[in-house]
Amino acid sequence: MRTARFPNDFVFGTATSAFQIEGGWDADGKGPSIWDTFSHTPGKIWQGQHADVACDHYHRYRDDVALMESIGVDAYRFSISWPRVLPEGAGRLNPAGIAFYDRLVDELLAAGIAPSATLFHWDYPQVLEDRGGWPVRDSIEWFADYAAVMFDALGDRVAQWSTLNEPIALWVGYGLGAFAPGSSDRAAAHQAMHHALVGHGRAVEAFRASNAAGDIGVVVDVWKRHPATESPEDAAAALRGEQDGFRFFFDPLFRGGYDPDMLARFTCEGSGFRITDGDLATIAQPVDFLGLNVYSRVIARAEHTGDEWWTATERHPGGNYLANGMEFYPRAVYDAIRIATDEYGVDVPIYITENGMSDTVERADGGTIDDDERVRYVSGFLEWIARARDEGADVRGYYLWSLMDNFEWAAGYSQRFGMVHVDWETLERTPKRSAEWYREVIRSRSVPS
Ligand code: NOJ
Repeated sequence: MRTARFPNDFVFGTATSAFQIEGGWDADGKGPSIWDTFSHTPGKIWQGQHADVACDHYHRYRDDVALMESIGVDAYRFSISWPRVLPEGAGRLNPAGIAFYDRLVDELLAAGIAPSATLFHWDYPQVLEDRGGWPVRDSIEWFADYAAVMFDALGDRVAQWSTLNEPIALWVGYGLGAFAPGSSDRAAAHQAMHHALVGHGRAVEAFRASNAAGDIGVVVDVWKRHPATESPEDAAAALRGEQDGFRFFFDPLFRGGYDPDMLARFTCEGSGFRITDGDLATIAQPVDFLGLNVYSRVIARAEHTGDEWWTATERHPGGNYLANGMEFYPRAVYDAIRIATDEYGVDVPIYITENGMSDTVERADGGTIDDDERVRYVSGFLEWIARARDEGADVRGYYLWSLMDNFEWAAGYSQRFGMVHVDWETLERTPKRSAEWYREVIRSRSVPS
């Protein structure tokens, strides 16, 4: 492929989320989140790990901003811990929690880094979960009220807001039990996903009614399904997998309603899925941008029935697999962009809000951490983004996941996604070779071929 070039105003950023890096799980009046509860429950996380300290970013954010400054990123995508600012989920504010994000945003601005804030990156307040969580309808207004609090607090300085990050996590948490809160109730999970979408729409309305200056959008992860064979059964499995995945969100966001076949399937399953009058219009509220998280693709096979699509490890015979087992398929990002623009008519700017890979690379004798696989992986994705742009797609930015190694949810610290290595004993941060390389990409606005 030719050298990929990007204009000066293309946003090269990096991304993290609150629960995965902050630690300080009960510091300064923070309430517990469902991920605190889940990770404190034996058997839920790899080797019983938790994120009580994680990267201790809550106390070390200044060092982390300095790291980002040294890499030269244009923007930083982080999330706000809802129970840090509203310990009871709704109502009473925790001034110390708000003050933390205030300081973080100011530190970023002083370093010339544009803040991109996500409101819901999975660490839902435990007290609200105790009142029913996302499956109950009240959750819509709890979310909209929390959003309004944040627009008031940071709206004058945050450039970009995302309402939800990868809301499919609600399926994994309420439907499959593999994420917090750890329940396995398909009907509740679908209802939770719908309420999160309506909550997104209500948050967009709250944003428009506020004095906030930036843009607002939503982040969906796209895992395109490729049928394993040419059989109609595998094609149907691929479609079903997409309907239960990113299309569940894209259909109401960009087509005004859920897919009738998918709804019929819910009805067969007796889920009693409830859409209240006005919900679909609320969800389809225009956004300022669409965020796409893209990591790879899924090979779909009909024999993977039921919930297996989520964990199916079907391999493509000609596939190129990373050491971590994920297929290196950089075209996935081009496909995701084209699905949004060509199939769904998305005509707002697109940001690749996450892309990255995990490794287990440790320090070599010479002291360097040579994560060459990450460099190749990110190069491949940037080349396909450049191609989509050259063909006219309005892709404005890219956020590499992640700034530093962090708590990878149920996989704990077993997967290192960072450009910066974190020593879990000392919490020392050491940039890997990819951080050097990314600095050069950002400086030159191009990916060396
Ligand atoms: C998806 C999530 O948004 C993020 O929290 C996670 O760590 C990465 N992708 C990697 O799995």
